[in-house]
Amino acid sequence: MECGEGERPDVSVMKTPEYIPRRSASTEKDAHCYIKMLYVLLAAVFLTTLTFSLPLNQDYHGEAETPLRFNSDGTFQISIFEDLHFGENAWEQWGPQQDVKTAAVMNAVLDAESPQLVVLNGDLITGENTFLENSTTYIDQIVAPLVQRDLPWASTYGNHDSDFNISRRNILGRERLYPNARTSQMVFGEDSGVSNYYLPVYPSDGGSEPCLLLWFFDSRGGFLYQQTDERSQRIDQPNWVDHSVVDWFQKTRDSLNAQFNRTIPSLAFVHIPTNASRALQLGVGVDPYTEPGIDEDTPLAGQAQGWCADGTSDSDCEYGGQDLPFMKALASTPGLLAVFSAHDHGATWCFKWNETLPGMHFSGNGLNLCFGQHSGYGGYGSWSRGSRQVFLTEALLAENEIDTWIRLESGDVVSSVTLNATYGLDRYSPTPDTHT
Ligand SMILES: *[C@@H]1O[C@H](CO)[C@@H](O)[C@H](O)[C@H]1NC(C)=O
Ligand SMILES: *[C@@H]1O[C@H](CO)[C@@H](O)[C@H](O)[C@H]1NC(C)=O
Ligand SMILES: *[C@@H]1O[C@H](CO)[C@@H](O)[C@H](O)[C@H]1NC(C)=O
Ligand SMILES: *[C@@H]1O[C@H](CO)[C@@H](O)[C@H](O)[C@H]1NC(C)=O
Ligand SMILES: *[C@@H]1O[C@H](CO)[C@@H](O)[C@H](O)[C@H]1NC(C)=O
Ligand SMILES: *[C@@H]1O[C@H](CO)[C@@H](O)[C@H](O)[C@H]1NC(C)=O
Repeated sequence: MECGEGERPDVSVMKTPEYIPRRSASTEKDAHCYIKMLYVLLAAVFLTTLTFSLPLNQDYHGEAETPLRFNSDGTFQISIFEDLHFGENAWEQWGPQQDVKTAAVMNAVLDAESPQLVVLNGDLITGENTFLENSTTYIDQIVAPLVQRDLPWASTYGNHDSDFNISRRNILGRERLYPNARTSQMVFGEDSGVSNYYLPVYPSDGGSEPCLLLWFFDSRGGFLYQQTDERSQRIDQPNWVDHSVVDWFQKTRDSLNAQFNRTIPSLAFVHIPTNASRALQLGVGVDPYTEPGIDEDTPLAGQAQGWCADGTSDSDCEYGGQDLPFMKALASTPGLLAVFSAHDHGATWCFKWNETLPGMHFSGNGLNLCFGQHSGYGGYGSWSRGSRQVFLTEALLAENEIDTWIRLESGDVVSSVTLNATYGLDRYSPTPDTHT
């Protein structure tokens, strides 16, 4: 192949088995070109053995993404689906039936709400139940309700999205077959995970400076793809946000704020909550009147659970502390208004983290730690399925305020709160503990 200006590889022969991440347009044409040649070579090698996976790089479509922008009325809404757990027990009737019910949850929520972005906050697929040859094709079912409505979406991956027969990279590749996918990868260390990236959101007036940043973090977990140890057991993958990602986050955050000469307000999404949520739950305690929501996963399962302080995985180790750098980074990020997690299906509250917690030598800066609602019929628990809505307006954002509520499959709205300066003191009606 030749390396030339504007040269595009032939898509028909470029069915790369692995997603090749987009990088910012590079002026270092030669280096870029050789890397590309290497990719093509690698792709050709992989193609002969891995014909079952067929993700294409968005670059090769030559399409520019439509940036996210506030509506002309100054609003921007996000619907979060989490713990969808598609693909359980394909060999029994109830597995595929359960997926149909989960898609119905998504359709019911999206018929009632009008988001500009959907976040799939991890555990899209129950990887331990999937087959090597078609494990990522569940993505097609998951995104069908979004494609039908022409909605952009952005994913974080959860612990169940990595297993012997499924990999995060291949899920990303499958997602990127769709132009509406905004899921990406911006950190490329061997242990960084995959779904680490940010998305800028632009103002309604057509301005070209972002007025909101959405950060997506990969808390990893689950098992390594197609690897076993000497006893033929699957190999655990660490379940916290890697330090390479923390470094990238801090550098990128600081350089964006410097570039635009202001603190850009932000939200973050990560599948597994940090120990801060657990420490708030067990220490200060979740009050059903001031932090309305279900609080039935006690204690919460968080990052670094099942890992010891020395870095070995052991279910007897309750908490290894490896999420400390990530927690510190979150707590010291000015303008970060809320972090949305999933993973604990029985937790749906938001808590304002403003205190020094026992055992922690730093305090939260008032950022809100929120859970969403279990959206899938797969995975544990029978709490009513639903989806957290995050509603922003340009005016509220200027005051560091967010409105948020949970839309249940039934159509009911619960846990509707304003995350403002007095959240944690304001009284709300408790969330009913309903099940399906
Ligand atoms: C994946 O393959 C399995 C085994 O052949 C099959 O039962 C299942 O329906 C397939 N899943 C999808 C989404 O095609
Ligand atoms: C992985 O997929 C292969 C091929 O479909 C299947 O035979 C095997 O049972 C799966 N392994 C696991 C651990 O699910
Ligand atoms: C950055 O913003 C401050 C006020 O917030 C202003 O004083 C300063 O001149 C700005 N710097 C640049 C380079 O625009
Ligand atoms: C982690 O949470 C526990 C409460 O479950 C708390 O006692 C401990 O101090 C916390 N540690 C850190 C480092 O956050
Ligand atoms: C925060 O929102 C609640 C609920 O809307 C409201 O009662 C309270 O007055 C607000 N606090 C501030 C400081 O605006
Ligand atoms: C932190 O929030 C709690 C309510 O969750 C409130 O009682 C306390 O006054 C707040 N502390 C500070 C320093 O703002």
